[in-house]
Amino acid sequence: MSKKILVLCMSVLLAVMALAAGCGSDKKAADGEKVLKVGTNADFAPFEFQGADANAYEGFDMDLIRAIGKEMGYKVEINNVAFDGLIPSLEAGNIDVIISGMTINDERKKKVLFSDSYYKSGLSIMVAKDNEAIKGFKDLKGKKIAVQIGTTSAAEAKKIEGAQVKELNSSADTFIELAAKGVDAVINDRPVNDRYIVESKNDNVKTLSELLTSEDYGIAINMKNTELQGQVNAALKKLKENGEYDKIYAKWFGEKK
Ligand code: ARG
Repeated sequence: MSKKILVLCMSVLLAVMALAAGCGSDKKAADGEKVLKVGTNADFAPFEFQGADANAYEGFDMDLIRAIGKEMGYKVEINNVAFDGLIPSLEAGNIDVIISGMTINDERKKKVLFSDSYYKSGLSIMVAKDNEAIKGFKDLKGKKIAVQIGTTSAAEAKKIEGAQVKELNSSADTFIELAAKGVDAVINDRPVNDRYIVESKNDNVKTLSELLTSEDYGIAINMKNTELQGQVNAALKKLKENGEYDKIYAKWFGEKK
């Protein structure tokens, strides 16, 4: 090989290497800080919601992911996405992680990686206060039920014999539908139903104590990004060890029993 060709080959190689380095998954903010693009469906208090300032996302998940990002050395950018659009968005690479009160289950595991569990949850029922007919899940047969589309509540409701399931865009919409008497019951994650009872001051509804499922929430990560999964788990572990997780938990749910 002539010297000229060798030099040419070397420079092409160097250029390719430089390009590859610049194309890593680390997105840099203008100030040089790495950015973690987070997807959530911010209509799910107390986990994620828009408070008085619509641009400031609040909730347990929001505090937790900001703490995880900080631990990992990333600046956290929140993107508000429809719940059933979150996994497609992650698969398309538009976001790096999902934190959205998302339950870890086998069906989702076919499409995404999950972090270790960060919260234990389950589903509960809400009905009108004067409804004496529905005392538990077995009484939902043939009833009209509102759920959020794409959720575990929707999947469970569809298993109930003869039930007419209304799939709405948010848990907030399910509450509106119940208040308007468009349905007999709603199924949501218990902390979300409980929070509504306290915050809405709607005196005409009640939640039933029975829990339909036991679920674990996880942070979802792109199937290909095992490295990020490792980083998220390490950060979560650290926050559990150093008391930061407990602080965030106590802020939203009170001291752990
Ligand atoms: N835990 C349920 C699920 O994973 C509901 C989550 C809904 N989350 C939300 N931000 N709307 O299906």
